Amino acid sequence: MRSKQLGRRQAFLKRNRLLVFWIAVLVSITLLFIARSLAQQPVTLNLLMTAPDAQPWQQGIVKDFETENPGIRINVLEGPNATNLIEDLYTSAFLLGDSPYDLINMDVIWASKFAAAGWLLDLSDQVTPEELAAFSPKDVEGGRYEGRLYRLPIRSDVGMLYYRSDLLEAAGFEPPETFSDLIKISQVLQQQKTNWGYLWQGRQYEGLVAMFVEVLEGYGGFWVNQDTLEVGLDRLETLQAIAFLRDTIKQGISPPGVTTYQEEETRRLFQSGQAAFLRSWPYVWPLANADTSPLKGKIGIKPMVHAPGQTGGACLGGWGLGIAKSTRHPEAAWKAIQYFTSKEAQRRFILQAGYVPSRRELFTDPEIVAKYPHFPQLLEVVQKAVLRPPIAQYAQASDILQRYLSAALSNRMSPERAMKAAAQETRRLLETND
Ligand code: GLC
Repeated sequence: MRSKQLGRRQAFLKRNRLLVFWIAVLVSITLLFIARSLAQQPVTLNLLMTAPDAQPWQQGIVKDFETENPGIRINVLEGPNATNLIEDLYTSAFLLGDSPYDLINMDVIWASKFAAAGWLLDLSDQVTPEELAAFSPKDVEGGRYEGRLYRLPIRSDVGMLYYRSDLLEAAGFEPPETFSDLIKISQVLQQQKTNWGYLWQGRQYEGLVAMFVEVLEGYGGFWVNQDTLEVGLDRLETLQAIAFLRDTIKQGISPPGVTTYQEEETRRLFQSGQAAFLRSWPYVWPLANADTSPLKGKIGIKPMVHAPGQTGGACLGGWGLGIAKSTRHPEAAWKAIQYFTSKEAQRRFILQAGYVPSRRELFTDPEIVAKYPHFPQLLEVVQKAVLRPPIAQYAQASDILQRYLSAALSNRMSPERAMKAAAQETRRLLETND
């Protein structure tokens, strides 16, 4: 029975040899085709960023880059608003060992920590000193660790004071210079025109610390001296800075909820016309001046106010790109960084999103100045801006300050006790990591 069946099969194969041959050819061609199209699949680079940043990226430079580089896709992943939460996401991905991120979008304060942990590719030999000289030196500095370069600046950022030029003018005031000018003008305008005088970021997160270093500098104080690692948190100037912020709440100049606000809460309140002053970053300018904004044409900006005899502090913020050591696509990632940091891409990005350039010549670029007349002034502010201490333990140092400062501002601890504890913890941190 079985031998009969075998015989029939052989006879069938003999008769259909041609058919079998063609099936084999077809299968091989299909396999070849699949293999080729797999090889031609575009490379995808994952890039995580804060939610407010993701939109302008997706609409602007990412699309332009993909059009010019059809073999590379950028997958922009939208994270939370707070920069420290994005940092936590990157950190836990790296610690788990198999980071899904290829391009690392870094705040100006992270590069030392990420580089010290060995999570980033060293980019020092990819860029010449001449190429780097085109960027603001402090933005570049934020990307170095132990003399090597790990991050290229995409955009700069700097804290500043926004004011309602229409209200100040109508009431006959010049923009404030000192902390007490700000309080006095607020009190007058609050009697006539606005609910609130001054808005600032008081929630326990990275933005609190960025805002605080400006007030601290305005009183002549400091947090951590980057050269000597001296800690200034238990000095008189720090207590004066905290007293100013607490006074704004006590005197009803800032809303009681200000100790829970991040940038976006303060911007929305300001943009709805409910406050005379706002401390924020330059991203607010194009939004508050948009056609649909009730504040269009009614705001001015200036460096932060200060105590008499001191100068206003501006915190240097900003973002830049590095490459994860674990990426499978380092060449594509470098290509993307070159494109995103190029003059042309930056010009288009800035014109669209109003971000602060990291390339110096763009501050005075005619097309950019036509749209943002305040940019030449901004360059000065950026060049004078203070970096938060560029130390590898920055995240922990910031966490200590955030906790105790928040406790002092929301009356959970006396400022003296809070800052004594913050100073001691910071000193211990810096000693143990020496
Ligand atoms: C902005 C700045 C960044 C800062 C953050 C704080 O995004 O560019 O440097 O850490 O605000 O909220």
